[in-house]
Amino acid sequence: MPIEKTTALANSNIAFIKYWGNRDAAYRVPLNDNVSMNLDHAFTTTTVEFDANLNADQIVVGGADANEATRQRVSAHLDRVRALAKIETKARAQSENNFPTGTGIASSASAFAALSVAATHAAGLALSERALSILARQGSGSASRSIPGGFVEWIAGHSSDDSYAVSIAPPEHWDLRDVVVIVSTEEKKIGSSEGHAAAPTSHFLAERIQALPARFHRVRHAVLAKNLSLLGPAIEEDAIELHMMAMTSVPPIYYWSPAMVQVIQAVQQWRADGLAVYFTLDAGPNVHLICEGTDAAQVESLARAIVGVQQIIVNVPGGAAHLIDQHLF
Ligand code: DP6
Repeated sequence: MPIEKTTALANSNIAFIKYWGNRDAAYRVPLNDNVSMNLDHAFTTTTVEFDANLNADQIVVGGADANEATRQRVSAHLDRVRALAKIETKARAQSENNFPTGTGIASSASAFAALSVAATHAAGLALSERALSILARQGSGSASRSIPGGFVEWIAGHSSDDSYAVSIAPPEHWDLRDVVVIVSTEEKKIGSSEGHAAAPTSHFLAERIQALPARFHRVRHAVLAKNLSLLGPAIEEDAIELHMMAMTSVPPIYYWSPAMVQVIQAVQQWRADGLAVYFTLDAGPNVHLICEGTDAAQVESLARAIVGVQQIIVNVPGGAAHLIDQHLF
């Protein structure tokens, strides 16, 4: 059996149409098609080595032994890889995020995409991009979108075998920026997985499912046509709908925060003043400002001036998950 230390790098991504709610929670088959852009400045690097001398997986994240919940989730993912490779060997897996931990930037997308690429290669498998996306999806839904490069569509499908992400345009297609405005570095109390599980309890779900196909096509078309004035309102609508669903779930989930609302209101003012910038949100308090490259410096400096803003990370569209030579151990 080929046993080789392997390292992979995967970018995080920001969804323009959100994944919220699963058709099949065990396999993370989502309720709806969704769209995202990879983020070149928010990535995870992961090294994996299968070692017959180990009697348990060793998982290190950001230089420290992973906590129990993370260890179990990563080991379960390594089990998926072992099943594909028909091996039982335990592994050493170490990962680092390039963005400071505790920034509230979602790391499960880049983490499970990097882990999938590194672990499959380390186990001697050579999976297609589609198979890698299907595998990464089972670790974290949004990780399926961090396998292909640039602007990405996750085809919801109906079962695990037909739910995967593909690139709709490469990174160089459009100089779109995601200026991430970090207003809180607190770890979120309610993870996305719990949010997905709660989605069906919101009375907005039926409305959302009805509205989504048209919005999805608008967003997809806007990305392909590089049309920000078409894209912007649609992504804002979708982000607000995500939070409406969370807040109307039973029990309700508030990712909403006063600083977040302040940034949103500032964006509305800047737009009224003629600046083409739109916001989107994740299941956390930070705000992602979407604009074109020509406006990015101005958006960044305006955002920096808002009281309560702790840090800003500017991203251009990022590439596909890939192998790299520098191992972490
Ligand atoms: C709000 O992919 O983090 O960011 O599959 O349970 O790991 P799990 O959920 P996750 O959910 C992401 C939710 C979101 C929207 C999105 O990225 O599409």
